[in-house]
Amino acid sequence: MVDRRGIVWFLLLLFFLCFEVTLEQIEPLSSPKERAALLQLRTSLGLRSKEWPRKPDPCLIWIGITCQNGRVVGINISGFRRTRIGRRNPQFSVDALVNFTLLQSFNASKFYLPGPIPDWFGLSFNSLRVLDFRYCSIINAIPNTLGNLTSLNVLYLSDNNLTGNVPHSLGQLSGLSVLDLSRNSLNGIIPISFGFLVNLSYLDMSGNFLAGPVPSGLGTLSRLKYLNLSGNDLSSLPAQLGGLTSLVDLDLSGNYFSGGVFPDLKGSRNLRRLMLGNSMLNGPLPAELFTVSLQLQIIVLRKNNLTGSLPVEFWSLPSLTFVDVSSNSFSGLLPGSSSAVNSTVAALNISHNMFYGNLTPVLRRFSFVDLSNNYYEGKVLDFMHNVSINSNCLQNATNQKSTGECASFYIERGLSFDDFGRPNTTKLATEGSGKSNKTKIILAGVLGGLGLIALLALLLVLFLLCTRKRGNTNQRGNGVGPAPAGGSPPPPGVLVNLANVGESFTYHQLLQATGDFGDANLIKHGHTGDFFKGVSENGIPVVIKRIDMRSMKKDAYLSELEFFNKVSHQRFVPLLGHCLENENEKFLVYKHMPKGDLSNCLFFKNATSEDGTLQSLDWITRLKIATGAAEAVSYLHYECIPPIVHRDIQASSILLDDKYEVRLGSLSESCVQEGDTHQNKITRFLRLPQSSEQGASGSSTSVCTYDVYCFGKVLLELVTGKLGISASSDSELKEWLDQILPCISMYDKELVTKIVDPSLVLDEDFLEEVWAIAIVARSCLNPKPSRRPPMRYVLKALESPFKVVREESLSSARLKATSSRGSWNATLFGSWRQSSSDVTTIPATSGTKLEGTSSLKLSATSSSSSRRRHSNEICPEPYGLPDVERLEHEGI
Ligand SMILES: *[C@@H]1O[C@H](CO)[C@@H](O)[C@H](O)[C@H]1NC(C)=O
Ligand SMILES: *[C@@H]1O[C@H](CO)[C@@H](O)[C@H](O)[C@H]1NC(C)=O
Ligand SMILES: *[C@@H]1O[C@H](CO)[C@@H](O)[C@H](O)[C@H]1NC(C)=O
Ligand SMILES: *[C@@H]1O[C@H](CO)[C@@H](O)[C@H](O)[C@H]1NC(C)=O
Ligand SMILES: *[C@@H]1O[C@H](CO)[C@@H](O)[C@H](O)[C@H]1NC(C)=O
Ligand SMILES: *[C@@H]1O[C@H](CO)[C@@H](O)[C@H](O)[C@H]1NC(C)=O
Ligand SMILES: *[C@@H]1O[C@H](CO)[C@@H](O)[C@H](O)[C@H]1NC(C)=O
Ligand SMILES: *[C@@H]1O[C@H](CO)[C@@H](O)[C@H](O)[C@H]1NC(C)=O
Ligand SMILES: *[C@@H]1O[C@H](CO)[C@@H](O)[C@H](O)[C@H]1NC(C)=O
Repeated sequence: MVDRRGIVWFLLLLFFLCFEVTLEQIEPLSSPKERAALLQLRTSLGLRSKEWPRKPDPCLIWIGITCQNGRVVGINISGFRRTRIGRRNPQFSVDALVNFTLLQSFNASKFYLPGPIPDWFGLSFNSLRVLDFRYCSIINAIPNTLGNLTSLNVLYLSDNNLTGNVPHSLGQLSGLSVLDLSRNSLNGIIPISFGFLVNLSYLDMSGNFLAGPVPSGLGTLSRLKYLNLSGNDLSSLPAQLGGLTSLVDLDLSGNYFSGGVFPDLKGSRNLRRLMLGNSMLNGPLPAELFTVSLQLQIIVLRKNNLTGSLPVEFWSLPSLTFVDVSSNSFSGLLPGSSSAVNSTVAALNISHNMFYGNLTPVLRRFSFVDLSNNYYEGKVLDFMHNVSINSNCLQNATNQKSTGECASFYIERGLSFDDFGRPNTTKLATEGSGKSNKTKIILAGVLGGLGLIALLALLLVLFLLCTRKRGNTNQRGNGVGPAPAGGSPPPPGVLVNLANVGESFTYHQLLQATGDFGDANLIKHGHTGDFFKGVSENGIPVVIKRIDMRSMKKDAYLSELEFFNKVSHQRFVPLLGHCLENENEKFLVYKHMPKGDLSNCLFFKNATSEDGTLQSLDWITRLKIATGAAEAVSYLHYECIPPIVHRDIQASSILLDDKYEVRLGSLSESCVQEGDTHQNKITRFLRLPQSSEQGASGSSTSVCTYDVYCFGKVLLELVTGKLGISASSDSELKEWLDQILPCISMYDKELVTKIVDPSLVLDEDFLEEVWAIAIVARSCLNPKPSRRPPMRYVLKALESPFKVVREESLSSARLKATSSRGSWNATLFGSWRQSSSDVTTIPATSGTKLEGTSSLKLSATSSSSSRRRHSNEICPEPYGLPDVERLEHEGI
């Protein structure tokens, strides 16, 4: 009995407890105004009764509504789908929200809100703490008024289509701890006011088009744990980031910190992930980095221009899991032992640097190691299994560098080379010339590769005009001093430090290298000189250009030397030296490029198939080549001050090394961009669209837009596989374009299959890339120079081809919204819009429209063919394209 009563009491008690709790948690909505507003919101957003049923109480039943004391404090429509009707005309219509005066959190992530954030939004919510608009397809600029949401802690606007500047007013949100603006199309600078966001712990602005310096205030945000500014166009880093004492994850990769040095991170003791690849940093790594940031796990610094050694402390960091410092100019030895760090599952990529010396057990802790393309010598260690060792100077290994290359590397540094373990009787010819010449290696010999090469550039000094053959008594390089006496005075305005542009070779050495310039070694008669293959005295294959001063422009070789004097970048063909001692013939010596140039390697005989059928480059390689060439040109246009115009972009100028990496050649035509005045630099800095080419006449070849045009032809050549497009004369080109351009439509992917190189094997994804690249090519070929996209946007488009088609094909609304802004694809398509008349027509009919355009073109052509033209050795200006504007004027 007692037991039973006890149980009943207990149950009753439990019941009341639960009831109480329940009552407290969900009280029905008490404000009629808010109820009406919810229903209004439900209608304007087209929400379904599945989540928000019409009748029952919102606080009790509706999904995503959080209430307190009968008032709505949180609305979460994340991931909701709209009703069929709501989907018909989706809008950013949230006007009813103003009636929720206590709203603390609004989460609309992954809910489709195509439209701009209204200005009133920021002025209406005093208590809003959390705003999540991720993946909403929001367009236009971030309103300044968001800076009035002073209670905000968390603001997510990432993965939208936002454009314009980042409002300075966001710096007023001093309570903000999370700010995510990543993956939009924002441009302008990072506001200096962000240095006042002292409570920020998470800042992500990656994947935009932000430019200018990183404000130094960011380096003082002591609560910041996560900072990501990658994938922008930022131009410099503050020297001090030492105030980032909480930093765990730093990603600044993919910017243009040209000439910048590695930031000082001396406060960041908790740093685990350090991403600074592709950022054009120079100089050495600060040693403290590895004594302070002991928790580093992931370090990615690939593709910079970092020098010096990896500090010894690096090798004993205890937690490393992934390290990639490839493609820098690091040098130095491996430490002898690994100071007791146990093996971890870690990957190490130090390839494409200048590390040398013997391999040591320090590598034992890494499970995967790529040390290819360095200068390691000695033996491969027995524990090394998952190791890539190609192109070093290692014994008993295949695919190593040549003796000559290894020996010259070691000798230049005053080190001794083990010569692959061979006894040292067969030393290099250079040893004969004595100690004082140790650092100079002489070229000679014979052999070499395919047609290639090229050259060119700007201004320079005529230092060595020795007419007598000093080489005739000395075959061993006494002539390699940097500036032999007897040179003529430099031409006015031309200054080249010959010490910076490779070695001086004697004529005699070159005769030896090329078999007296015999026909057997002639590669081709180029328009800037004759090219011969050869082999240097230390066995390096070279290509030598002979310039006949009687038939060439006198200063062409000087401009080329000047070019190399100014520009040293891995995207250009390496100049090894020169011989200027003869009055009538000058010589430039380049490194031989194993794959030749693009005009001769697009198709090749497959060595493994006996029938000699031609193979063609696969699409991935073609895209890689296009991107590499775009990097080189982009470098000239944006990293060189003043900008340099290449003026000879065509397939035969695009040289390729053994990995099909582009080393751009044909540099002797290049020149400083016409009219690059101070004014122009300022406007470029301010990123006024397309300002860089202006002032010059549309048909000048000395403007960057001319390179863009020529680059468009190269892209077409890659897409169609039609050799010679990029080198064709104007009339040939017109024919090509008449056939090809009608098949490039932004609205019809399939159309492009009519012109795609039939030898390409393409799946659906690749076809989409090919289509995108064709569209880029077309926009580069716009007859109006000012409408062509700037090269850096072309580069961006090549790097993310899907963005070209996926973003643009759907919405011309966005195009209008952004075409006056700096977004790369807006620029691309702004220009597209002008180059084809179909943009406003309905997709389904655009194909036929285009055909119509192309037949009209013929009649339009004859009247414009008198347009000024240029040497057809280099790319002529188009004259056969329809002048769309005029056609439109005439009402066609
Ligand atoms: C919400 O507030 C606005 C302005 O205060 C008012 O015009 C509107 O009628 C209100 N909506 C509802 C549903 O009460
Ligand atoms: C928001 O709503 C979605 C979908 O109903 C749900 O999965 C998610 O957990 C909610 N998020 C929050 C923070 O309440
Ligand atoms: C918004 O809702 C999503 C669920 O869909 C959730 O993952 C996200 O964390 C929410 N946002 C915030 C700021 O809570
Ligand atoms: C919004 O903030 C700005 C300062 O950025 C201020 O001038 C303005 O008065 C504020 N507006 C409102 C309605 O509070
Ligand atoms: C390495 O592992 C051994 C045992 O496996 C352990 O005794 C030693 O402390 C470890 N050393 C380090 C540096 O972790
Ligand atoms: C290289 O390998 C050969 C046999 O494969 C061996 O005879 C020779 O000693 C090795 N040389 C070195 C330096 O390891
Ligand atoms: C070669 O000659 C040097 C003398 O300079 C000698 O010290 C060295 O041991 C010899 N062998 C090699 C492989 O260098
Ligand atoms: C790379 O670094 C070297 C030495 O610091 C410098 O001379 C060269 O100009 C740099 N190259 C680039 C592309 O920044
Ligand atoms: C926003 O961009 C995405 C791709 O990035 C695109 O699919 C979408 O249609 C765009 N939305 C709007 C409203 O422009």
